[in-house]
Amino acid sequence: MKVYRIASIPGDGIGVDVTVEARKVLDRAAERHGFGLEWTEFDWSCELYARTGAMMPTDGIEKLSGFDGILLGAVGYPGVPDHVSLWGLLIPLRRAFAQYVNLRPVRLLPGVASPLADRTADELEMVIVRENSEGEYSAIGGRHNAGQPDEFVMQESVFTRVGVERIIRYAFELATSRSGRVCSATKSNGLIHSMPFWDEIFAEVAAEYPSVDSEQCHVDALAARMVQQPERLDVIVGSNLFGDILSDLAAAVTGGLGLAPSGNVNPPSDHPSMFEAVHGSAPDIAGQGIANPVAQVLAGAMMLEHLGETDAAQAIDQAVSDVVAERSVVTPDLGGSATTSALGSEIATALG
Ligand code: NAI
Ligand code: MG
Repeated sequence: MKVYRIASIPGDGIGVDVTVEARKVLDRAAERHGFGLEWTEFDWSCELYARTGAMMPTDGIEKLSGFDGILLGAVGYPGVPDHVSLWGLLIPLRRAFAQYVNLRPVRLLPGVASPLADRTADELEMVIVRENSEGEYSAIGGRHNAGQPDEFVMQESVFTRVGVERIIRYAFELATSRSGRVCSATKSNGLIHSMPFWDEIFAEVAAEYPSVDSEQCHVDALAARMVQQPERLDVIVGSNLFGDILSDLAAAVTGGLGLAPSGNVNPPSDHPSMFEAVHGSAPDIAGQGIANPVAQVLAGAMMLEHLGETDAAQAIDQAVSDVVAERSVVTPDLGGSATTSALGSEIATALG
């Protein structure tokens, strides 16, 4: 029997609540589909930071490097600045493991109401391909003349030819297996160096895929289009910042953050990929047992798909759709009154 070694990092807040449920569902799927999951849990979090001054140990990357996959809850908690939690754990892992694709598929599940009136599921099926290793999320810059009247900060962006080309190529490859449409998020009217460079590489790659219907759109207009004409969108490729913002919007129009999964993918699989919900640690509802575990369960299904366990991944997607459509056991964000754990168990049971 094939056994996969999986690292689990529940993190903070509802990250902990939803990761327990995802493990429950994944273990059931493994049992049903004839493979094993050997879990190792790491307590890396803001709580650890409060105790030790670090989000993870100095050899954290090394510790994770031998795993087949990583399931991450969420990190961030009031009292620890968000840039500390993000740069102390998530960003170093994404970069050390060359997880240069952040893949964020969204779809409208049966029985879930979109805030957009009268939209059907096939009009609201999209995937955001977000660049995940460079771009606007850069540590280059600094604060100068602190506390003086002439105080200023500089925040640099980094766009490399290799980095931009590989993410755009990934989006085109993905489009060939989906609708055959790619839209690139740009802002080359305002950002006069980085975005014209991005657009130029987009055009070069597009020329290699004549069968894919490609276009570029300024990110502000694209945000409006996602609300007004979502049926025109399928694969959307964007820089680190643009992709981050658009994916929360895409999650919102398809029923909320409680349903949206994501994968930090290292396409050649020379390093472990890491899967997590799009949402954060939601301190406003943490510890209340009301967080929706579906996003994290679907992130787990993406991990199984990445590991090649396609049948198990599809079975989980189907179980989630069935349980959510049935509506008798759903969490408050979907209009129900079930707990996080009740919904997790219901999905596990639906796997048979
Ligand atoms: P958030 O995604 O945690 O919450 C936004 C809103 O959506 C909240 O009202 C929350 O209650 C609701 N929500 C989110 N997930 C839900 C779920 N599964 N079920 C029901 N409702 C849900 O974003 P926010 O509040 O901006 O950030 C909170 C913390 O999370 C911050 O410290 C932030 O830095 C961190 N964060 C971490 C991420 C990560 O680890 N990848 C990603 C995003 C934020
Ligand atoms: Mg985000």
